[in-house]
Amino acid sequence: GKGGYDHFMLKEIHEQPTALAQAIEGRVDSETPAIRLEDFRNGTFDGVENVQLVACGTSYHAALYGSLALNRAGVRATALLANEYSASSPPIDDGTLVIAVTQSGETADTLNALRRANADGARTLTVTNVVGSTAARTADDALFIRAGPEIGVAATKTFSSQVVMLLLLAQRITDDARGEPAADLDALLSELRRMPDRLDALLSWSDAEAIARRYDGSQSYFFIGRGLGFSVALEGALKFKEITYGHAEGFASGELKHGPLALVTPETPVFAVFTGREDEKTLKNAEEAQTRGAPIVAVCPDGHRAVDVADAHLEIPETHPALAGLFANVQLQLVSYHAASLLDRPIDKPRNLAKSVTVE
Ligand code: M6R
Repeated sequence: GKGGYDHFMLKEIHEQPTALAQAIEGRVDSETPAIRLEDFRNGTFDGVENVQLVACGTSYHAALYGSLALNRAGVRATALLANEYSASSPPIDDGTLVIAVTQSGETADTLNALRRANADGARTLTVTNVVGSTAARTADDALFIRAGPEIGVAATKTFSSQVVMLLLLAQRITDDARGEPAADLDALLSELRRMPDRLDALLSWSDAEAIARRYDGSQSYFFIGRGLGFSVALEGALKFKEITYGHAEGFASGELKHGPLALVTPETPVFAVFTGREDEKTLKNAEEAQTRGAPIVAVCPDGHRAVDVADAHLEIPETHPALAGLFANVQLQLVSYHAASLLDRPIDKPRNLAKSVTVE
């Protein structure tokens, strides 16, 4: 059942601390520091020179987040929409690892890309929630996110767990490929260990509901961010449109002035995601929208300079820059949930959508 919550989506949002604790259980040793993922059938990743992550929807946003983590750690990586893969896939060679990111492990588009990668001779891996799924059986190796069943059509806890597993995997791949752990691994791992408790706290003090009320009835909702914050902006907008049926778009902050700024009015709140990297630039982009009358909601820690500039604030804790986006995403999940709830939408089963899209 829904465990006392009105919807599975809200229950699953609240399950995130537990889901993350399960994801890292036995896999993270913050003392050494070390990451212990299961043994892969195909051994270590020492021959991996480039990584292609293929996925759809929310899983694609997690893949985008993961690709940046890999790039920052020095491994060439690209996130690709699985449904575009056959039309526009980059070349595969001996050093290519293709990672299919899929909650269900049954998404037709993602399975097609995975099969194609197998046929082209790439090493393949899936990051999935479902043991025994088609993806788990099709890829050379599988890494399970252990988020537990997700019933709501809108993916929530599985996004967080996918991102965390991709961050760990990125460390593992770079470690295998370079023979030494990343410089700030201990900082990342110790923050990761604290994350379930801090998420639990955020879920109790979040004022996302008040923000949803304040901007209820707006014409469009924009989400902007840079780097990891860009993937969170895309995910924030997808969740918003999926369950509220309102118009929402996610943009790279710097892209606003290249077109979307023409849409900005006092009727288009802009949620700006700050993840601790190049925040000044994002703030400047947000101010450009504010000058055109748009209310700005800053998603950032307390005391951040964006708080003084913005019209509203969604607080996230101070944390490792690789994890800030996850906290921001949880706040945005709650905004979408409450916005949809005010509109009385069928939150767990939005019109026209299925939990698992098994057709191409
Ligand atoms: O099961 P998968 O992760 O492969 O599903 C991919 C998408 O269909 C899925 O994430 C979809 O975008 C969600 N409904 C988003 O909330």
